Amino acid sequence: MPSKLRIRQMESNDIQAIRDIEDRSFPLPYSAGIWEREKGNSLSRTLVVVDDSEEGAPELRGYLNFWLILDEAEIHRIAVKEKYRRSGIAGMLLHEMLNAFRDMGIVSVHLEVRQSNHAAIKLYEKFGFMIKGQRKGYYQETGEDALILEADVKLGKSP
Ligand SMILES: CC(C)(COP(=O)(O)OP(=O)(O)OC[C@H]1O[C@@H](n2cnc3c(N)ncnc32)[C@H](O)[C@@H]1OP(=O)(O)O)[C@@H](O)C(=O)NCCC(=O)NCCS
Repeated sequence: MPSKLRIRQMESNDIQAIRDIEDRSFPLPYSAGIWEREKGNSLSRTLVVVDDSEEGAPELRGYLNFWLILDEAEIHRIAVKEKYRRSGIAGMLLHEMLNAFRDMGIVSVHLEVRQSNHAAIKLYEKFGFMIKGQRKGYYQETGEDALILEADVKLGKSP
């Protein structure tokens, strides 16, 4: 059956599926408690992509978490279930986020990414993010540096 993908805000029922993706995607996954706090935090937004085409509960395929601080945004998390990677899901989420930011008056968005995370860096560059700096040894568990990426929302690309 073809996929019927839809983007919506995270609900409490999504947290287990998000946790499963987190465990397979990040060295230090967010706990269920952190996701509950994100849900209750007025600065935080989490978008999820679900496939509504299957019988039963829709399958959660990916998610994007960011914070809104005045006219700026910070991306904190983006991940896609392994078997659905390279099918445009992260791109869908960034496209939706950047379109919403234009209407909301958000002017810039930034994030930190591991220097070795080529897939994520390529993804962000595709959407107009540029490397603005580096934080030495930012990731304590490995000592790896973080790159700071930033996009001007007006100039940001939506391929
Ligand atoms: C990074 C990640 C979110 C990308 O999700 P995705 O749904 O596979 O990405 P998309 O299919 O939307 O790809 C969009 C673009 O990103 C880039 N990209 C994505 N994965 C890539 C890879 N493995 N290698 C190179 N470029 C890649 C490409 O430019 C791609 O465009 P293209 O397919 O036209 O070449 C996914 O690999 C993931 O969940 N990784 C683990 C979690 C993570 O590292 N998150 C980022 C933390 S900052």
